[in-house]
Amino acid sequence: MRFETWSTSVETANADCVVVGVFEDGELGAAAKELDGKLEGSLSRIASHGDFPGRTGETMLLGTLPRLAGRRVLLSGLGPRKSFGRRAWRKALAAAVAALGRTAIRSAALALDRPPAEELDDYYYGRAVAEITGSTLYRINDLKTGKKPKPPALVRVLAGPLARASARTVARGLKHGHAIAQAAAVQRNLGNLPGNICTPRYLAQQARVLARKYRSLRVRVLDEAALRREHMNCLLAVAQGSAEPPRLIVIEHRGARPGRAPLVLVGKGVTFDAGGISLKPAADMDEMKYDMSGAAAVIAALSFAAEVALPLNVVGIVGAVENMPDGKAVKPGDIITSSSGQTVEILNTDAEGRLVLADALHYARRFKPAAVLDMATLTGACVIALGHHHSGAFGNDEALVRELVEAGARADDPAWQLPLTEEYAEQLTSNFADFANIGGRAAGAITAAAFLGKFTRGLSWAHLDIAGTAWQSGANKGSTGRPTPLLADFLLHRAGV
Ligand code: BES
Ligand code: MN
Ligand code: ZN
Repeated sequence: MRFETWSTSVETANADCVVVGVFEDGELGAAAKELDGKLEGSLSRIASHGDFPGRTGETMLLGTLPRLAGRRVLLSGLGPRKSFGRRAWRKALAAAVAALGRTAIRSAALALDRPPAEELDDYYYGRAVAEITGSTLYRINDLKTGKKPKPPALVRVLAGPLARASARTVARGLKHGHAIAQAAAVQRNLGNLPGNICTPRYLAQQARVLARKYRSLRVRVLDEAALRREHMNCLLAVAQGSAEPPRLIVIEHRGARPGRAPLVLVGKGVTFDAGGISLKPAADMDEMKYDMSGAAAVIAALSFAAEVALPLNVVGIVGAVENMPDGKAVKPGDIITSSSGQTVEILNTDAEGRLVLADALHYARRFKPAAVLDMATLTGACVIALGHHHSGAFGNDEALVRELVEAGARADDPAWQLPLTEEYAEQLTSNFADFANIGGRAAGAITAAAFLGKFTRGLSWAHLDIAGTAWQSGANKGSTGRPTPLLADFLLHRAGV
């Protein structure tokens, strides 16, 4: 896909198709008005007759029209004028791109009305155009046999019409947005793969593939023997019930001078979570193939850092395991000594993500990080608390958590902070070990975060629970690519670019 800006008049835009907006009351958007004059009122007639009602998400393609030199016009509904803003614009753009993707149109000039600049400035406009185009045209890795659906013909998207002064800023946004869309596709491709293909070893192999592509990346993979030498017994305890050997994957992006403290990103990479001996119910268990979405987001973020040559040192750490029931599996009541030296009573083997992260987070210390951020499809309780709209944000450093929440808001990949005060950690009390791996039904997302907090003392640390946001069920089942846009925004801001 190529993204460009354009600054000509609407009817001379250099593309196969011009995309213009129509409001719900029949009012034409600015570019539609401009074209309407050229087209002797045909657009206003379509709108006033009610042939195109202008609801957001609806589009109408007008075939080659006289006077437009073979160019097509795509109408996209902007909804009611008074409530038109960033959300409606995003929806209208996604609908337009989806409609274009079903045609043979190869290039499109976007001329939708833009939300007010306070809601979306030039830079974020460019970014959103590229991100929405990329995510709308994303297709799932096809494991279906038979005739393959054709890739969309659309290969060139022009954002505009722009005042000359805006074009450079928009172009920078397009470039970053394109890189974010590519990173989100990296995450989605990994997430959508089934557990029998996307194993811990597969994740390690993909990290190596990435490091071959980018010179700034270095990869180190710890196998079972190395994990044992590091005393990562909590991670190993989860893995011991599976025939798939575990891996700890370390990816480094060297973008700043060597002495500069890195940002460390840690991802939960449970390639399938059956629950272990505390076996999950059968319904929807297949969705636990997405339980490596945090790991996929870390890999995606490192690919993004390399792609935009981010002037930061970033370390990605992925704890990759499969959680299965077996004669050798860890059992409820077992007590394990973590790599931090703290002992954990495993009361529920389905609370495995925190066990993997405990050792992965402890490993982060050796990098003397500026900040540590983990992401994990950690708890069903987070889905109950926040649904599928916000990721849960937690941490021991308020400024860091705020930074993440703000990045999420800017990137349209929102997160919401939940409290993480001392009381919650008390729910983890065990009679036999330093603490248990579960804290009862109440505040399950928070007690899980409190568990992670036991392993990040003295670090500047934040945690994103992405259980509700990393994938969706239903007709459009699949990985969403979240929280890659949030992470990318966070990294760009940290780098000051
Ligand atoms: N991977 C799950 C969390 C999850 C559940 C994500 C549903 C998305 C949808 C995690 O490993 C898990 O099983 N958590 C348990 C914790 C409980 C045993 C304390 C849960 O949420 O039920
Ligand atoms: Mn689990
Ligand atoms: Zn899990």
